[in-house]
Amino acid sequence: MGSSPKHINHELGPMRCPVTLDDVDLFGPGAQEHWYEMYEILHREAPVLRLPGGGITPGSDAFVLTKHADVAMVVKDPERFPTLTQTRISGHANAGLSAEDTWQKYRSLMQASMVSLRPTQELYIKHRKELTDPWVGTGAIRHREMITRHANDLLDEWIDDGQVEFISRFARPLPQRVMASILGFPLEDIPQLAEWGDAVVTPFVHGHNHRHEITPEQTQRMLARLEGFQDYIYEHVRAKRAEPQDDMVSFLCEVHYEALDRKLTDLEIAGIVHAMILGGLETTQYALEEQAQLLCERPGMFEQLRVDRGKVRAFTEEGLRMRSPTHGLSTRMTARDEVFQGVEVPAGSLLHLRFGAANVDAEEFDCPFDLDLDREGLTRHVAFSTGPRVCPGANLSRVEQQIAWGVLLDRLETIEYGEGNDWLHQPGIMLGTLKLHLRFTKATAPMHLGTGRTSHTA
Ligand code: HEM
Repeated sequence: MGSSPKHINHELGPMRCPVTLDDVDLFGPGAQEHWYEMYEILHREAPVLRLPGGGITPGSDAFVLTKHADVAMVVKDPERFPTLTQTRISGHANAGLSAEDTWQKYRSLMQASMVSLRPTQELYIKHRKELTDPWVGTGAIRHREMITRHANDLLDEWIDDGQVEFISRFARPLPQRVMASILGFPLEDIPQLAEWGDAVVTPFVHGHNHRHEITPEQTQRMLARLEGFQDYIYEHVRAKRAEPQDDMVSFLCEVHYEALDRKLTDLEIAGIVHAMILGGLETTQYALEEQAQLLCERPGMFEQLRVDRGKVRAFTEEGLRMRSPTHGLSTRMTARDEVFQGVEVPAGSLLHLRFGAANVDAEEFDCPFDLDLDREGLTRHVAFSTGPRVCPGANLSRVEQQIAWGVLLDRLETIEYGEGNDWLHQPGIMLGTLKLHLRFTKATAPMHLGTGRTSHTA
């Protein structure tokens, strides 16, 4: 069977392939099609790229950091490089993604809960340990059977078809079902939850420039789409306070937050649910979708993984490194004057951390574009960031990815690109195509069908 080669469609986006530093525009329309070409230029010529006037206060600049050493150093040192939220709390600057009033109101409403629970670095860590770790962090492994069941159910729907649009039929619904199950929301509500989830990520998908700014019109549209989200959460909180179930929202209703020696308010619970929906859906979708592409581009690797399941973890980690779902975030500031790679970065500058570029930095990773299942230090990548504010859902996502591939490897014998792919990417700061058509053959003798007994480690 012949598959559609990817390069033919590589030219469809509005942006031409960058050749010189002047061509590099990480945030322009169609940039996603060329990010990796841009990273090569940036690593060579401008590993610290100044964006004049791009800071959050008038006259200040932003800097794009693309080196692994710089990004890792920044996220590990919250004193020297506070987050924007910390900066706002200390009143250092009035940072905002948009000056629009309603948007600010919405943000402060949702953030108030988060800020009240973890205003300091110390509390941030306790917040994670006490409130989210048991469900999406260290405790994520407890969801193994549930995730396996959802993955199998999804596969059942198309296993006999020979071809599938992988995003809408697997990579997107799997994290949605998993997150709904963890939170304790009915699966029938997923279309509505997905609508809210899409609205919540508006700035990261449709936002402009490195600050993910959205226009007043976009803000209004987003707020209209979010109508009812908070009431929905409050309704569930009320029901679960009255009759607790075995789910994360019931847990949050009951838990005594040791760090503050009290229970959580409804608003605080809503804030955490909001963060789970914001962080937990699209990210894992993109991870799975890009990993499927990596397999299609490497004939023989799917078969190799089928017979050597011990390598699935290495595969997903390499996938996260080579095709990081979250390519960049402008979430840190400089508290004092700094020098990165010989470039002076004044105090009060905004830092855009380019996780996607850091993960293909040849100074950190030998042959960074090789998917190396035997690579040493597989988790050195910063796809989830690192340090004290590392992604709180990293474990859950890792478990989901490993189980998803475990089930796919159990039940499919081959996968390859199908017809109809145009390789156009979603806009914004996440890496992922809008569609991914795959052709596959069903395994004649499924390997560990539906048992979830393949080795999954976080
Ligand atoms: C492949 C999947 C994922 C990737 C690549 C990813 C990546 C990231 C990154 C880079 C950050 C920023 C960390 C920092 O500022 O240092 C982050 C933060 C966050 N992630 Fe994830 N994430 C993923 C999955 C998840 C999941 C499954 C959840 C929820 C269950 C989640 C929830 C969050 C939250 C709530 C934050 C914000 C933490 C804060 O307030 O600082 N993420 N993630």
